[in-house]
Amino acid sequence: MSRGVLESRYAQEAAQALASMEASIPSGNATVHSPIDGSLLASIATEGPRAVQLAVEKAKAGFAAWSRTPAPRRGELVRRFGEELRKHKTDLAHVISLEVGKIASESLGEVQEMIDICDFAIGLSRQLYGRTIASERADHALRELWHPLGVVAVITAFNFPGAVWAWNAALALICGDAVIWKPSEKAPLTALASSALLDRAAKAFGAPEGLHQIIVGDREAGIALVENEGVALVSATGSTTMGRDVGTRVARRFGRSLLELGGNNAMIVTTTADLDLALQAIVFGAAGTAGQRCTTLRRLLIHETVYEELVDKIKSAYARISIGNPLEDGTLVGPLIDARAFDRMTDALTAARREGGIVFGGRRVLEDRFPHAFYVEPALVEMPGQTEIVRQETFAPILYVTRYQELREAIEANNGVRQGLSSAIVTRDLAEAETFMSAQGSDCGIVNVNTSPSGAEIGGAFGGEKETGGGRESGSDCWKSYMRRVTTTVNYASGLVLSQGVDFMLKARE
Ligand code: UN1
Repeated sequence: MSRGVLESRYAQEAAQALASMEASIPSGNATVHSPIDGSLLASIATEGPRAVQLAVEKAKAGFAAWSRTPAPRRGELVRRFGEELRKHKTDLAHVISLEVGKIASESLGEVQEMIDICDFAIGLSRQLYGRTIASERADHALRELWHPLGVVAVITAFNFPGAVWAWNAALALICGDAVIWKPSEKAPLTALASSALLDRAAKAFGAPEGLHQIIVGDREAGIALVENEGVALVSATGSTTMGRDVGTRVARRFGRSLLELGGNNAMIVTTTADLDLALQAIVFGAAGTAGQRCTTLRRLLIHETVYEELVDKIKSAYARISIGNPLEDGTLVGPLIDARAFDRMTDALTAARREGGIVFGGRRVLEDRFPHAFYVEPALVEMPGQTEIVRQETFAPILYVTRYQELREAIEANNGVRQGLSSAIVTRDLAEAETFMSAQGSDCGIVNVNTSPSGAEIGGAFGGEKETGGGRESGSDCWKSYMRRVTTTVNYASGLVLSQGVDFMLKARE
């Protein structure tokens, strides 16, 4: 590392944590800054299309050996990786905080999420069940088999720099696939560290070369990966704009994609709601992770009878929420990732005012202490309705609040955006809760009752509809995305019998 890097305290801490995980930083010209104070964390080498091509070749070779390894054995590799994560939980979490500015508890939570998906995947490695299906023909057996898919590319965003890759990698590995990870350019250190832990596990296990690789690169490298015919599945997390580009490029070559894109998540607070519970869920959902989760609560729809009371409660909670250095005890809201994120937040608030919004909070703070970082008060914006800016996702802690009279109207507002990731209702009324979860309710992939739209567990399928991209990752039966399905028909009758009663028998010569 260069001298400049050693000057920063956080660079030293990151280097130490990485060293403890035996991760090395290839030195180069790209820079990684800590959103905590804007200081340089590392200067790092990036790779381009040629490296991508080589990685795909290596991955294909790794896949050839790995796909023949029995699935429960593959689970053993993931078990070892989970152990490495457990051993290095604090170090890895520290790197996450330094690199993306999450508070310690959330960074530890992210590593826990990585551990959880490993546990889930280990169990699954003995449960990659296919079906047996009743054949319409006598003495025929109809079955489904699941086979490894091939090389899986995983493109991740800065906000969950480890967990989202782990969701994909743990499942892809037990399914028999090889994985190439292209992390966010804003968070390569977490990726290098996580990848080094998997390397250690792979080495101890004796896994084939090229089974998992990492490409730290820019957009050009990303495009090369996405367009490479050797990549069977591209799993990408990020903005809708990015996903539209990735999705079309992959579709053009008939590859598979798994997209987890933007969210514009709403919560409905009904007249019977426990307002203290609602308040906790709102503050965590909207201000937690400095509003930088895909599942962040962005729109609050409050029944008019409880509107004033709840808005007052949120304002007083926001006024006392501790914003600051995410490494310090007691901090709940850390910094935005960078200056661009701050500009986007400012622009959104300007647009909201123009569209009739009344903004509470949303100012930049701690500028004296951190002139090169971007700390903001979470913003609460009372809006006259679901205006244009409300229907856009801004990756910042902005909560747009509107009032409603009828549940139907609130559900329409919940669904009246282009994104469809997560949603929530706070109510004590069973009919309201069930209605919201029903087919006539929320149109999102995640529907929560009496809890925040963010903070999903790994056991369920994660993802959403419409511009969110339709993909599902992590729990439930999401493993199927990482395998190919084969339908087999075995005829053990004495002659050929065609389905649907078709008669196609060659007549004996007269
Ligand atoms: C994301 O923001 O891309 O449900 C993932 C949650 C986390 C994952 C978020 N478990 O909020």
